Amino acid sequence: MSKVTCLTRILVLNGPNLNLLGKREPETYGTLTLADIEAALQTLAESLDCTVDMAQSNHEGELIDWIHQALGMQDGILINPGAYTHTSVALRDAIAAVALPTVEVHLSNIHKRESFRHHSYIAPVAIGQISGFGVDSYLLGLRALITYLT
Ligand code: DQA
Repeated sequence: MSKVTCLTRILVLNGPNLNLLGKREPETYGTLTLADIEAALQTLAESLDCTVDMAQSNHEGELIDWIHQALGMQDGILINPGAYTHTSVALRDAIAAVALPTVEVHLSNIHKRESFRHHSYIAPVAIGQISGFGVDSYLLGLRALITYLT
């Protein structure tokens, strides 16, 4: 008898300036690169029976296009919206429009930082937010999303 596996598909999106991880303000964001974070997610994805497609953009519209394209192609979204967290009604509306279960993650604890980082436009349309654990925010977020979906 052949074994049928049904993989849960997760889109991982990263917003502006996260391409510079590793070099960017390491005292705040750590020394891991985005490629390191993706490798850690891919390893975890194998044990959680899910696939992870990861992308990064510095452009709001491109992130929105990818969220739209996820409809029917992905089961959930893990997103670190970067600074768009605090500014983008359009990104929030895109997540609400596709209605895919979404988890918001941040490397730093946004609530412990400048007051302009305390508000998230994404949080009200996300299942939840994980903030302040570095790469573990992504890994915990993936676990939470998979638990929610299965
Ligand atoms: C961030 C926090 C945001 O406030 C900031 O603009 C970022 C990174 C984080 O992962 O800690 O770019 O999303």
